[in-house]
Amino acid sequence: MYLIDGVQVEKENFILPVENIGVWRGDGIFEAIRIHEGYPFGIDLHIERFKKSASKVFFDDINFENIKNDILLVAENFQNGYVRTLILRNEKDTFNVFCFYQPPIDVPAYFTLQTQKAYWQSGGDFIEQDVFNIGTKSTSYAMNISHTRQAELNGYTDALLVNRENIILEGPTWTFGWILNDKIHVPDLDLGILDSITRKYLIRFGEEKKLDVSIGRLAEDELETIQCGFVLSTAKHAIPVSKINEIDYSHHPLINEIQETFKNEVNIERP
Ligand SMILES: Cc1ncc(COP(=O)(O)O)c(C=O)c1O
Repeated sequence: MYLIDGVQVEKENFILPVENIGVWRGDGIFEAIRIHEGYPFGIDLHIERFKKSASKVFFDDINFENIKNDILLVAENFQNGYVRTLILRNEKDTFNVFCFYQPPIDVPAYFTLQTQKAYWQSGGDFIEQDVFNIGTKSTSYAMNISHTRQAELNGYTDALLVNRENIILEGPTWTFGWILNDKIHVPDLDLGILDSITRKYLIRFGEEKKLDVSIGRLAEDELETIQCGFVLSTAKHAIPVSKINEIDYSHHPLINEIQETFKNEVNIERP
């Protein structure tokens, strides 16, 4: 299913001119939402982040009520998979909204990760609130994806980005979490990482006492001390990490608890 500015089109018409700055400069923002039996889980938080991204990159006069309706329409037609929505700046310096269905993707049972320095990432050099465009979910992802490609070439599932001081940041397309002393940890947002929706849920589960969750920082040389890591995103509700660089990890039961808590939350939230 394909919508441009709320109008359903055939796949062959779901196209945009290369002249648009959204294409050749990546001047766009996006959201990906997972469909659970016709329901786009976390839709309100995704819309909230979409609005924040829009304001950070000066995308004005976007009708997010219409966008929410587009997302609900796409989702209600499918049992599972994702709704992807992009807002891209066009040649006339206005915007187009592209909303489409993406079928479920294969996710490996375990991830193996290679740490890589993300020199281009703000990495905690600035405070999120003080800098206008940090934390934007923009369509300019080439740098992130280059780390994934590099890790794949080296035989790993993906990269684990670290800052100049070797503090763990996030994955190229997901949040990193870790288990230490039988407790769940996620990195803090001042590191310049994306304000991930699943990370937000996990922190909320901590506040609601469903899980024990702390916000903190982990240095690369502390990777030896953790019990396990996990990959967290809209597409991945806690996938265990079996190896980082040369360090092997065994599965930790808390990973299953995180997965179960997400499953329950979907059932609570879905109307
Ligand atoms: C860089 C980055 N960090 C974290 C995430 C996880 O965010 P969310 O939980 O909202 O899917 C993503 C998702 O695409 C991402 O691209």
